[in-house]
Amino acid sequence: MKMCVRMRWAGAGLLVFGASVAIAESGGPIPSVTGAPGEIFCTECHSDFVPNTGGAVTIVNAPPYYKGGSTYTMTVRVASGQTVASVDRAWGFQLTAIDAGGSGAGTFANVDGQATKILAGGGSLSSRRYIEHDGAGTRNGMASPASWDFRWTAPPTGSGPITFHFVGLAANGTGSEVGDWGYHGSAVMGDSSTAAVPTSWGAVKGAYR
Ligand code: HEC
Repeated sequence: MKMCVRMRWAGAGLLVFGASVAIAESGGPIPSVTGAPGEIFCTECHSDFVPNTGGAVTIVNAPPYYKGGSTYTMTVRVASGQTVASVDRAWGFQLTAIDAGGSGAGTFANVDGQATKILAGGGSLSSRRYIEHDGAGTRNGMASPASWDFRWTAPPTGSGPITFHFVGLAANGTGSEVGDWGYHGSAVMGDSSTAAVPTSWGAVKGAYR
């Protein structure tokens, strides 16, 4: 299974970069592995166990609705009891935000000290942006849960509902893709400009004043 994936990508022209992709992995995975439409999951490579077993990845403090152009600080959290016996346990995540058409939505920013980085998708996914742990962000040895704060500035008003797709990994810290537990989830954030249904003409006028 692991080999299949690598060979498929090698065929797509990544062969030259194959070595650096593998080396760069614990420094943060390749883009487009959040399981959003058109993407794979971390568990394509970290494939020993059934995804979403004995843990979860969630976004903490995500508002149900966004206001166009507003910036939100959120926290992505990976909780798992599966690596409790691994002293050097490591953690990782990747997250993206897309609109109903599948295009990347809003702008991510790193929060100081969180050890995250931002990547762009390639090819047909080039409008998408990804925030993930960097080489210093694997929180080695940390007890469950591990979390990372990040900032997201919403797209303009009227962009419609935005779906966040996120994946987390509870790794055993052996520096390989073996023996690691993968989690994934998604959450929809509504567009506040279309959420409030006006109940009177006064309210409509108020909304456009
Ligand atoms: C293309 C295959 C592939 C994908 C997809 C992938 N990884 Fe990895 N990952 C690896 C390999 C190979 C290693 C070991 C080499 C290294 O660490 O550089 C690794 C190592 C890691 C480690 C260190 C593991 C340990 O036990 O020390 C973490 C953490 C990690 N990956 C997180 C992730 C996360 C989070 C995702 C999804 C967002 C992901 N990886 C997706 C191949 C992959």
